[in-house]
Amino acid sequence: MPAGTRRPDAWTLVLDGFDPADEGRREALCTLGNGYQAVRGAAPESRAGGAHYPGTYAAGFFNRLTDEIGGVRVETESMVNLPNWLVLRVAVEGEWIDPLDPAHLLEHRVTLDLRRGLLSRVLRFADAAGRRTALRQRRFVHLDRRHLAGLQTVLTPENWSGRLRVRSGLDGTVTNSGVARYREMAARHLRVLVREEVDPETVLLVARTTQSELTVAQAARTRVDDGGGVGATRRTLRERGRISHDLELNVAEGRAVTVEKIVALVTSRDVAVSHPALTAVEQLAEAPGFQTLLAGHELAWDQLWRRFRVDLTDGVGDQHAATTAETLRTLRLGLFHVLQTASPHDLDLDAGVPARGLHGEAYRGHVFWDELFVLPVLTLRMPQLTRSLLYYRTRRLDAARRAARAAGLRGAMYPWQSGSDGREESQRVHLNPLSGRWLPDTSHLQRHVGLAVAYDVWQYYQATGDREFLAGHGAEVLLEIARFFADLARHDPALDRYRIRGVMGPDEYSARYPGAAEPGIDDNAYTNVMAVWLWHRARDTLAALPGTRRAELVERLGLTPAELLHWEDLCRRMYVPFRADGVLEQFHGASRLEELDWADYRSRYGDLQRLDRILEAEGRSVDDFQVSKQADTLMLFYLLSADELRELLGGLGYALPPEVIPRTIDHHLARTAHGSTLSALVHAWVLARAHREDALDHFARALRSDLADVQGGTTAEGVHLGAMAGSVDLLQRCFAGLETWADALWFNPHWPSRFGALEFAVEYRGVTLDARVSGREVRVAAAPGPGRPVRVGCGEDVRLLHPGETARFTAVPTAAGTVAPVPAAGR
Ligand code: BGC
Repeated sequence: MPAGTRRPDAWTLVLDGFDPADEGRREALCTLGNGYQAVRGAAPESRAGGAHYPGTYAAGFFNRLTDEIGGVRVETESMVNLPNWLVLRVAVEGEWIDPLDPAHLLEHRVTLDLRRGLLSRVLRFADAAGRRTALRQRRFVHLDRRHLAGLQTVLTPENWSGRLRVRSGLDGTVTNSGVARYREMAARHLRVLVREEVDPETVLLVARTTQSELTVAQAARTRVDDGGGVGATRRTLRERGRISHDLELNVAEGRAVTVEKIVALVTSRDVAVSHPALTAVEQLAEAPGFQTLLAGHELAWDQLWRRFRVDLTDGVGDQHAATTAETLRTLRLGLFHVLQTASPHDLDLDAGVPARGLHGEAYRGHVFWDELFVLPVLTLRMPQLTRSLLYYRTRRLDAARRAARAAGLRGAMYPWQSGSDGREESQRVHLNPLSGRWLPDTSHLQRHVGLAVAYDVWQYYQATGDREFLAGHGAEVLLEIARFFADLARHDPALDRYRIRGVMGPDEYSARYPGAAEPGIDDNAYTNVMAVWLWHRARDTLAALPGTRRAELVERLGLTPAELLHWEDLCRRMYVPFRADGVLEQFHGASRLEELDWADYRSRYGDLQRLDRILEAEGRSVDDFQVSKQADTLMLFYLLSADELRELLGGLGYALPPEVIPRTIDHHLARTAHGSTLSALVHAWVLARAHREDALDHFARALRSDLADVQGGTTAEGVHLGAMAGSVDLLQRCFAGLETWADALWFNPHWPSRFGALEFAVEYRGVTLDARVSGREVRVAAAPGPGRPVRVGCGEDVRLLHPGETARFTAVPTAAGTVAPVPAAGR
């Protein structure tokens, strides 16, 4: 393949045949959305149950239900599965057909076109009498006109003429039943209020949630083009919770009939909407046909992809061409789903980053700390999007303050799982499917989520220099989180250091000490060190604020000099656990726990990702072992450079000699089960400079998390946005060494040449830049136009890049394996 050739299929995912066992994964991977709403890639003729789960979701649309489990009242908030607008069924000569039934199916191919945001399906089926029909379907969820979606169906009788009936409707009888583990719990969130025909082409369904009293309105318009035939006769069908139009058509052999369904979905959460049903009907009344809408949708994707361009070119020969194309397609698939969850529509939506996207019901649509892995990709391309996602957190500052107060602490305690209003949504019991037992869940003790929120705020400010955001919202959040952690840290006279006790780190397999009555572990190294990082940044934040705003905030929050001095003291006297061999210990006393016989468990169980479930089912507890679900201590090396970490520890009086770092990595890696898809990302990152091949294995695993469903079944319940975005981030920040600090964009490439050259677009300080990284070469071109120059650097070489200019750098490795730059000639 000649240099520079783009691999042809790096934009398309093709899924052939029909495998009931795999349908859930396919539905999640083929979800279409626009950040406001999304619909799973389910077959339009299907209903929930068996292989199918046609879920529809709107960002931030939650409802609470209550259950009683083991005598305990449990209240759960879920992202609501909305009425199913896909409904489109076909009857041949009066007989409704399930075309995916092996008795009928002749051919089935689903194609997801990532570039255009278009899901297509080609299907051929035959009825019992041998009448063969071809069905071609295309659908979109409009990227620009957020309320609108379209489904076009072309039916061609191949060897028969006669009566074809098509049912096109809206189904409000849906429940939240997409996750098997939750099926014992209450699931009906909606009450259908309205089912009516608006006009001969349009039906309307309005439903309201049982507790949050949110309204969702859907209007569906169905038109038929039978190529000048006799037209369709229609009947409106009202069933309990459903409304549809039944169209009767006389079809002729070989003549295609096109059924076009355009849907408007509007909710009471929307801005500039007072009556969802009215708006839905209006939206539809002025919506053009499928083809015209599709053109606008494609344009919107084209523009978004330009901002989020990522390309791998100039692969090193044919043997790698296929891998490169596969890698690129998987990267784009991930970006595609990230952008379908967090899109420009989030700019006026109050929604966070749900860990599993708008793609399924795992974790009930809750927001965890995963935005830590998602935002860097957005910040470097659409910084305003990151800002609006951070508003999801800043708006919930009061809820976090309330939670801190309820725990007897000052400042802001952000919840581990967050939903509509920012209260703690973590479940208190969970089901182990292996043992069938409901078990206490103490994962809400993951206080480190607040550190991630503060980190996100600071990173956004570093990348953008957006002082207005920092002064208006970010600083207050960051300072209140800093205050919370300062209150959480208590002086231990025996050590004469401060400690944070009774929490959980990112590793959910270490929830309590063996035999302890109370949950929580003490002095999680990640939490303690990041808290120190935060108190340093709190000082920097105050220094970065304009004087008047600083004074206002200090007054408003009642920050006293004594409190600030206390934070400084904490930066010198926090306790961080180390093992006797100098390796950072995950938490105080972790090394005293039993070692697991990994070989034995591997031989007995094979897949050890969910060791917690395996051990519980054996009557043991994962808490008793030196086993991590995911990267915990090593998160420090993911978020901080070795120098930064050394400096923070040095300030505390601890040493981190360079030779201890590889031992620290080895120690923790050997005890990690990778039960979270985030784990592979972090390990790829920390291994990237020293163990390139191992790093690439982890990268490949993170990248394929959902495509290969590496957790064996969880993708069907929603994609893993952290892994998807994080894989792109690995390319840009880890392998290309892209960083933003000191008001400059820095490159420090360590690019695996097997991938050819990496090309991507970034937006930095209002300037669009095209970057190309190949081996240790970097080329950065600023788009022409008005605007100020930006600073771009590689090592010690920092250039001022004006609009329209290109800079080239070559970074050369030093003996230590780090990269020192030399400016390239011929700029
Ligand atoms: C991981 C968390 C993560 C959550 C949502 C869990 O399995 O342990 O770190 O935030 O999934 O992705």
